[in-house]
Amino acid sequence: NSEKLSSARFAEATDAFVEIFTASVDFDKRMAQQDIQGSIAHATMLGKIGILTESERDAIIDGLQQIGIEIEQGQFNWSVKQEDVHMNIEARLTDMIGIAGKKLHTGRSRNDQVATDIRLYLRDEIKRIRAELTRLQNALLNLAECEADTIMPGFTHLQVAQPITFGHHLMAWFEMLKRDNERLADCLKRINIMPLGAAALAGTSYPIDRHMTAQLLQFAEPSANSLDSVSDRDFAIEFCAAGSLIMMHLSRFSEELVLWSSAQFDFIDIPDAFCTGSSIMPQKKNPDVPELVRGKSGRVTGHLMSLLMLMKSQPLAYNKDNQEDKEPLFDTADTLINCLRAFADMVPRLSAKKDNMYRAAKQGFATATDLADYLVRKGLAFRDAHEIVGRAVRLGVETERDLSELTLTELQQFSDCIDEDVFNVLTLEGSVAARKHIGGTAPDTVREAISKARAELSGN
Ligand code: ARG
Repeated sequence: NSEKLSSARFAEATDAFVEIFTASVDFDKRMAQQDIQGSIAHATMLGKIGILTESERDAIIDGLQQIGIEIEQGQFNWSVKQEDVHMNIEARLTDMIGIAGKKLHTGRSRNDQVATDIRLYLRDEIKRIRAELTRLQNALLNLAECEADTIMPGFTHLQVAQPITFGHHLMAWFEMLKRDNERLADCLKRINIMPLGAAALAGTSYPIDRHMTAQLLQFAEPSANSLDSVSDRDFAIEFCAAGSLIMMHLSRFSEELVLWSSAQFDFIDIPDAFCTGSSIMPQKKNPDVPELVRGKSGRVTGHLMSLLMLMKSQPLAYNKDNQEDKEPLFDTADTLINCLRAFADMVPRLSAKKDNMYRAAKQGFATATDLADYLVRKGLAFRDAHEIVGRAVRLGVETERDLSELTLTELQQFSDCIDEDVFNVLTLEGSVAARKHIGGTAPDTVREAISKARAELSGN
């Protein structure tokens, strides 16, 4: 069965290089099981409406299942001559069961077939990606719980800003991933629509039952417009956009892990199992996993751009351009799973160097805002308080002391509203504990946020 597809139309054979150039089987064979799944549903429906006899239908389904096993066991003979996954499977089916195999493609085109396969494929991948994402979210919750009281500096402009808890910082990562997870779930709603029945572009003259096929394939419903069904790939772009956001988040997360594990910060320890050494410098322990994840974020965003550019000028309906959608899409799914998996394995094993974090929070006048707020409580306007504390900080900078290390008399020279009780607000513990409204960094508030998040996540 090595004849040219629709060969009767052509006066000459396909150019040998063009045959290879236009083939997609090398990569789209990845959707073989989804292709078989779709074909089985299609054949079942054709049987019900009387286009196939029961025995033809059964022969097709048995044959397809057999082919599924051959592929799984690596015994399937893929051929570039058959162009893509769809033609390879159909040709093998006909070799296997004869004339009934030639009837499978009744009322269908590769255009609606491939759109269906991609949707089935993405549905499977999203399930796996969400499972890894959820595992990472759980890891963050567990770590945040252990570190709810751990004080560290919070940064803006990468300069020490105010004290926070490490648990609070970890929960910030959790929130981002939570939205990412929701985005995937939402994207799935638009993926889970069935194009089969659109045929090449206009639908088919056979009395097909699209609701039946949709139900067999567990799609929410058949698509509403045949032209749109075979030509748009916005669902795939949406998936890559959601994937790019995940990778953007993981990249920021990575950047912090890289910084924090450096000797200059020394806030955390990344377990040896997730680091590698240097071929020349014997002392090195490099944070390869976060660095690589940070790097891979660029590649996923690149795939998003590829797909947007691929689609932007295509006239309706299907064009061969669309064959270019698969490699970026597959690589996006693979990269997401691998990066999330590495993070979900690594995060439970991160350890906080609490003393170093605490010491760093004591530097950089992290409680300056607390002193201003203290003055406001004593009756000053915030802008005046801001000015007064600025002067106190300057004395601290000049004499190389934190605000809490200035004496009461020294502080009082800036404002006579300052009393002995000022030292309560100048401590790191007092500063974080005071931020106890919803969304604040106080240890008890963080613990509440964790238990709320845990309940929501287990209901996912
Ligand atoms: N391999 C093709 C793709 O990936 C399948 C659809 C081809 N349809 C066509 N009329 N050439 O898009």
